[in-house]
Amino acid sequence: MLTKLSLILSVSAILAQAATLSYSPNSQIATRSINRVIRRDGVGDTGPDPQGWNTDDLSNMEKSISANTQLSILTLAYPEYGVFVVHNTPRAVPVDTLIFKRHIESLDPGFFWDSTYGWDSHVVNGGTFTFSTMYNQDYRLGGRYHQYQDNITFCPIGKSNYQVDTANWMTNLDGSLLVTGFTIPGTHDSAAQTDKISLAPELGATQSSLIPDQLLNGIRFFDLRLGSTAEPLKLRHGLLEIDGYAQDVFLNFHDFLAAHPNETILCSVKWDYDGVAQPADFETKLNAYFTDGQHGTWYTSSTLPKLDDVRGKIVLLRRYNGNLGFYMDVANNNGNHTSTSGDIRVQDLYSPATTSDGYPDYNTKWNAVQYMLDTHLAFNSSQLNVNFLSAVNIEGLSTLYKPSVWANEINARMQSWLDTVETQTVNLGVVAMDFPDTPSGDWDFKIKEAMMASGQTLLEIAGQVEITKRLILTNFA
Ligand SMILES: *[C@@H]1O[C@H](CO)[C@@H](O)[C@H](O)[C@H]1NC(C)=O
Ligand SMILES: *[C@@H]1O[C@H](CO)[C@@H](O)[C@H](O)[C@H]1NC(C)=O
Ligand SMILES: *[C@@H]1O[C@H](CO)[C@@H](O)[C@H](O)[C@H]1NC(C)=O
Ligand SMILES: *[C@@H]1O[C@H](CO)[C@@H](O)[C@H](O)[C@H]1NC(C)=O
Repeated sequence: MLTKLSLILSVSAILAQAATLSYSPNSQIATRSINRVIRRDGVGDTGPDPQGWNTDDLSNMEKSISANTQLSILTLAYPEYGVFVVHNTPRAVPVDTLIFKRHIESLDPGFFWDSTYGWDSHVVNGGTFTFSTMYNQDYRLGGRYHQYQDNITFCPIGKSNYQVDTANWMTNLDGSLLVTGFTIPGTHDSAAQTDKISLAPELGATQSSLIPDQLLNGIRFFDLRLGSTAEPLKLRHGLLEIDGYAQDVFLNFHDFLAAHPNETILCSVKWDYDGVAQPADFETKLNAYFTDGQHGTWYTSSTLPKLDDVRGKIVLLRRYNGNLGFYMDVANNNGNHTSTSGDIRVQDLYSPATTSDGYPDYNTKWNAVQYMLDTHLAFNSSQLNVNFLSAVNIEGLSTLYKPSVWANEINARMQSWLDTVETQTVNLGVVAMDFPDTPSGDWDFKIKEAMMASGQTLLEIAGQVEITKRLILTNFA
């Protein structure tokens, strides 16, 4: 049987070193994970490995990046902790900040797959390596690790291994940032869950999770469509009526923020009733909710707030005729639109024409999404970027590609793209998604509600915390 990795040297030297280093505000999530490692010192510790840690072998790591590039990324990402390098024994690794070194047998579990060599591991704290790219394949670099009794688990590079408290993630953000200055996961047509639409639910549905569940799982941008000429203000989307009212959603916001006071919510409100003009008193009716103290505390100024100014509040983005909030003029089906004020850049190519052979044109949509991702903004940017990943095709009865079909493809591409920024800290602005929780939007909503009633969250059920969690983590190196 395979030998276990045993670590001879104590980790106390590492712990002492870690304790003396200071952390930048943006590394708090990393710090929290690392604290957990530090506590797992094997003394009276009988628990399983920390949840969410990827203890896969290192062969999963990117090999095309040169070893030195990987090392500098790691050193930046984990300044307060050692990184490790594992290399083929014959290769020299000059290291000036060695924390420990250990020889690994070729068949030690979790490491090597096809090797007949022995390997050495070095855990280092920064330092310079002189790798030869020629021998790049003989080196593997990792990120975090932890020791449990005689086992040490190495955690390959990658933010996806981090835990994140999705209900409170803004606690760790620098409150002096403008609300336009960091990545915010969002939902498109946020209240249009399958069971909320009686006419053509499959066609209209864009979400699986109810608003409270979206909030708990980290969504902070909401897209509400309203359309009714009388109180209460009814939810709808164009031709489709949606069960429920604006005030139901506002109450959800209120309750969530009361329990999670460091968070802020951005809410876009759109008049969306095909063929019916916006009533003159629409904003007056809305404002009654904004100001009654029972439907959340709303920020309705058009001056860009800092996060600290709007923690516990809802920032209004206006998509109707009126005066309150930021005006978000979204051009119809446009992949790259900047509002006349210059304050907001929106990608909302919601229905690219099907390809000549009648299929959804995923590439055109994805190119528009990716353009905004690639041209993402500096932290604290004063421009809001809103990148809708959603789309639908309705070209007669024979050509119908519903939102869930699009979400399956575009969300998957988004996941892959996130790999490219995994070790960086970037401001992607608002990324508004259909079905961020379920890769297949076809789940039976009643089954899900029953499972949620038994205490599971939807994202747990679907195993899809990833996309929202990873968007949040783009804010943290
Ligand atoms: C160490 O890892 C091996 C292999 O995964 C496992 O069987 C063993 O229980 C672990 N030891 C401890 C103390 O966790
Ligand atoms: C972000 O911008 C605001 C307003 O300009 C400024 O007060 C704040 O210091 C900035 N924060 C950072 C982290 O640069
Ligand atoms: C909110 O932020 C304050 C100040 O940083 C902190 O003490 C508190 O624990 C945070 N609350 C939550 C729920 O994270
Ligand atoms: C997007 O819009 C900006 C501002 O109008 C423009 O400078 C840029 O060239 C556009 N890019 C594409 C790919 O259309």
